[in-house]
Amino acid sequence: MTAKPAVLVTRKLPDAVTARAAASYDARLNEADTQFGPDEIVAMARGCEAILCTSIEKFPAQVLARLPDSVRALATFSVGLEHIDLEAAKARGLIVTNTPDVLTDSTADITFLLLLAAARRAYEGERMLRQDAWRGWTPTQLLGVHVSGKRLGILGMGRIGRAVARRARGFDMEIHYHNRSRLPAELEQGAIYHETPEDLLKISQFLALNAPATPETERFLNTQRIALLPDGAIVVNTARGTLVDDEALQGALKSGKLAAAGLDVFEGEPRIHAGYRSLDNVFILPHLGSATLETRNAMGFKCCDNLDAVFAGREPPDRVV
Ligand code: DGY
Repeated sequence: MTAKPAVLVTRKLPDAVTARAAASYDARLNEADTQFGPDEIVAMARGCEAILCTSIEKFPAQVLARLPDSVRALATFSVGLEHIDLEAAKARGLIVTNTPDVLTDSTADITFLLLLAAARRAYEGERMLRQDAWRGWTPTQLLGVHVSGKRLGILGMGRIGRAVARRARGFDMEIHYHNRSRLPAELEQGAIYHETPEDLLKISQFLALNAPATPETERFLNTQRIALLPDGAIVVNTARGTLVDDEALQGALKSGKLAAAGLDVFEGEPRIHAGYRSLDNVFILPHLGSATLETRNAMGFKCCDNLDAVFAGREPPDRVV
């Protein structure tokens, strides 16, 4: 019997995924779910043929260069790839795979949860009840912003952006978008394309950030761009925290330039900018975009499908480099 390939699994995964990994590989599991740093990852990868990592572990060129020669594949349990230096991985001949498609719906759901919660002041209402501060219904209590009939601007019309648009149609929103390239009509489904992000901002009563973290999108939403949004706009971010200039966003939420924001992702997670904690008009979640059992199972199975292909000498279905 040939030995199973050794795979370092950096974090605790859902039970069904762990069971599959343990059955298929000599899986080096992390059931204590410790967050390991690069030195520990490099040491634990000794003798492994692959690493099943998450977006929390960083693989810049210096770390990739230190990985043992035995490691030939990196299967990330994420659709996001900003934690891996893809050029360096390619140069080293490392196969990198990710988990597209399977988290599209759960992430679009969280986008809408944030959008509605921000628009309808869900945090303030919830807090009122939990603090036993509700003195009864009044005609002017916690008035929010109507969603139906409003213009939603989507920055990044990939799979998740399009799933957000599908949900927005159900709320009778008018859909606008900017994307690196214009989509064909069958994917646009009537959404209105804007050549530049600035043009999109000017009409976005609601703005959903669904673009990947890249050098081009870093601090995309800064003071100058926020100024382009209509007064009283609402911003939601389920992409990556680096797309937002936190100080600029908080300034606009305090001044009333923006009515509210909903954020699932933050720069420097889990240490979010402390200013968000005291703002009533921001609804915040701890990076829950893909956090359903069905989605996390599907993400894990995709990692295993990709690794199985690598070990069988086939092309992995979700190969990035
Ligand atoms: C993703 O898949 O990129 C999610 O944000 C989890 O990291």
